[in-house]
Amino acid sequence: MEHALLNNGIEIPMLGLGTYRIGKTDKDVYDVIRTALDLGYRHIDTAALYVNEAPIGKAIRESGIPREDIFVTTKLWGDDILKDEIPQAFDRSMQLLDIDYIDLYLVHWPVKGKLVSTWREMEKIYTSDKAKAIGLSNHLQHHLEEILDEANVLPAVNQVEMHPYVVLDDLVEFCDDNTIVCEAWSPLGSSKVPLLEENILKGIGEKYGKTAVQVVLRWNMERGVVAIPKSSNRERQAANLDIFDFKLTPEEVRLINSLDKNYRTGIHPDEIGF
Ligand SMILES: NC(=O)c1ccc[n+]([C@@H]2O[C@H](COP(=O)([O-])OP(=O)(O)OC[C@H]3O[C@@H](n4cnc5c(N)ncnc54)[C@H](OP(=O)(O)O)[C@@H]3O)[C@@H](O)[C@H]2O)c1
Repeated sequence: MEHALLNNGIEIPMLGLGTYRIGKTDKDVYDVIRTALDLGYRHIDTAALYVNEAPIGKAIRESGIPREDIFVTTKLWGDDILKDEIPQAFDRSMQLLDIDYIDLYLVHWPVKGKLVSTWREMEKIYTSDKAKAIGLSNHLQHHLEEILDEANVLPAVNQVEMHPYVVLDDLVEFCDDNTIVCEAWSPLGSSKVPLLEENILKGIGEKYGKTAVQVVLRWNMERGVVAIPKSSNRERQAANLDIFDFKLTPEEVRLINSLDKNYRTGIHPDEIGF
């Protein structure tokens, strides 16, 4: 597994498991996470919104894997920002996960007029040492600039929708320049777009004996972008992890970038209703 170095010296595995709608029941979620950990996943991405922190925490605790070997991200939901209940929201996630500390706590979406005040609360959580790193999600450059102007603790990560239909080179470059690691959510386009049918991806895959999915995930690695594909299926989880024995050339990365349509499957960060 490759790692990226966060700006506070902590390492994050470049590939993690997304967990949005990963199981219908707590038992399903628990089983899927145990399978992923058995396969070698050491990075799990959840959120208060996903209502699965409890079974994920249970699976981590009962896996027998040392806590410090697993990187766990969860996220602060906008309603809790609007209610001025950020510390309470964090404590709730801590209680549900029940894993002593969180590796990365993210602001799930920017809430208009509250970017800096939210970040101040995030900094307090970071200082308490219960979250080893803090960061953002769905923040565009203008959101980041507003926060960076006032920040005492730099955001470690910005997690945004990113795949070959929404490449966001400028945002990745801005984050690189400001020592913020980019993470790709819906790295496979969340099955809502025919991304994986693209001949460019299949053709590159044939050269390396890999699938279009594996090529897309590897493309993130070459850009220094952490990816968190979701799969509830053991075989697909294993395939998604099997991307560390090949590398794409700069020309192949450029070719994949050419698929860009600036097309999001999810909400544009300026249009979220908070
Ligand atoms: N910060 C945010 O606002 C935000 C928003 C959305 C998502 N996220 C995070 O990002 C994670 C990933 O995003 P996502 O779940 O929307 O989409 P995704 O990871 O791009 O795609 C997941 C879909 O692809 C399928 N899939 C996975 N591996 C595959 C493979 N090897 N071959 C074929 N199909 C495969 C999955 O089906 P199976 O499960 O059946 O394999 C599922 O239908 C989420 O789970 C969540 O943790 C964050």
